[in-house]
Order: sequence, then structure tokens, then C-alpha cells
Amino acid sequence: MKIVIANESHFKYAEVICDTIAESARVRGTGIAKRTPEYVQKRLQNGNAVIALDGDKFAGFCYIEVWGHEKFVANSGLIVHPDYRNQGLAKMIKKEIFELSRKKFPNAKIFGITTGLAVMKMNYELGYKPVTFSELTNDPEFWKGCQTCKNFDILTRTEQKMCLCTGMLYDPSLKEKEKEKEKEKVNSKAFTRLKSIKESLFLKKKTTS
Ligand SMILES: CC(C)(COP(=O)(O)OP(=O)(O)OC[C@H]1O[C@@H](n2cnc3c(N)ncnc32)[C@H](O)[C@@H]1OP(=O)(O)O)[C@@H](O)C(=O)NCCC(=O)NCCS
Repeated sequence: MKIVIANESHFKYAEVICDTIAESARVRGTGIAKRTPEYVQKRLQNGNAVIALDGDKFAGFCYIEVWGHEKFVANSGLIVHPDYRNQGLAKMIKKEIFELSRKKFPNAKIFGITTGLAVMKMNYELGYKPVTFSELTNDPEFWKGCQTCKNFDILTRTEQKMCLCTGMLYDPSLKEKEKEKEKEKVNSKAFTRLKSIKESLFLKKKTTS
């Protein structure tokens, strides 16, 4: 199994990708934004997608979309072919696409909307937090993608405030702050330890002298 950044040589997989996404949504009975092979080919072409292949057999796929002038990127369209599920492949694809997003768009907030528990779990492990839709991009083009979902009437009724999907967001600036806090914690721990070592040394010296 190899997971690679997709390119034009993978155009032949566009159809099977679309069919697998549509069939999986049908089986799950959930809504999904519909993708055409032309739409998928564009994602394969611009270096913003990863594809998993078992020899030359399609196994999985996910792509990056850029919104709001690169303020946001979404990791969308995650799909693992039924023959390759429950072996950790989605997790590997998610990690690859997340790392590619961080590398290509280091200042962008990364987000996704999903009804899938598996995706929520994987996002959470990567550092995403659940958020209300108001925290996500307001780029109308992104929300237009929901028009082909069977739950679109809910999104319209709520004036785009909520739907069956949960919004999840990875905010790199918050992550930096959290890392700083973590460092502070580590430093204060180290300082307390150092203090106690010194105290025990000096107190010992004091009592023996
Ligand atoms: C969801 C999907 C991508 C998972 O692919 P996969 O390769 O089987 O997933 P993995 O084996 O990497 O599992 C990743 C995690 O999700 C969990 N998981 C997998 N399928 C799950 C399911 N149906 N329900 C709940 N959790 C699930 C796994 O237990 C694992 O969690 P763990 O690390 O805590 O054990 C795949 O089932 C799929 O393509 N489904 C249809 C499309 C879809 O739902 N896409 C998401 C649209 S938002």
C-alpha cells in the first residue's frame, strides 16, 4: 500500500473515487456533497490531494480545499474503499493530508464538517476542536457545496448556523499558544524540582556543617 500526493497520472481513478463516495453515503443513509469525476480530477491535478493505492487498485482518497483567500483550508472527501476499511488506512490518509495542509498553508485554519464518528475521532487526535459553524469560513462557495446534500434544507432553515454535521477546527495560532503554555508548565515543573534538589542539598550541608 502506498499513499502519495496525487497528480494527473491518477485521473483514471476519478470515477471510482466518485462512485465509492456516493455508494458509501447511500449505504450510511447520510447526506453528502456530490462530486463529479471532473471535480475530482481538478483536485488530483493541483497537488492538493492524496491517494492510497494497493498496486494499481484504488484504496483511499482525501483532498484539500482552500477558502477565504487561504485563511481556511478544509480536508474533504475522505473515502476508504470498503475492501480496505478497519485497517488504519483512513488514519494514515488523514495524517498525510493534514501534514500536507500544514506544509502548504502554514497559517491557515484547518476545518471540516462531518457526521462521521470515525472522522470526528481522527480529527480530535490531530488537534481539531468541535466548533459552531460561525467559527468556520463564511466563504459562500464552501457552503454552496452543501447544496447537493440531502440535509441542505436544515442548513437553510437555520440560516447556516447549524446542521447534522459537526464543525471541527484546527487553529494553528491556538496550537502555538497551547504549546507555549505547555512549555511554561514544563518549566515550572523543572523549576520546582530544581528548587527541591537545591533545598535538600543546602539543608543537608547546613545540618552536617
Ligand atoms: C470513515 C472511513 C473513512 C474510515 O476508514 P477506515 O480506514 O476504516 O478507518 P481506520 O481503520 O483508519 O479507523 C480510524 C478510526 O476510526 C474508527 N472507525 C472506523 N470506522 C468507524 C465507524 N464506522 N464508526 C465509528 N468509528 C469508526 C476506528 O475504530 C479508528 O479509531 P481508533 O483509532 O480509536 O481505533 C471509511 O469507513 C469510509 O470511507 N466511510 C465512508 C465515507 C465516509 O464516511 N467519509 C467521511 C465523510 S465526512
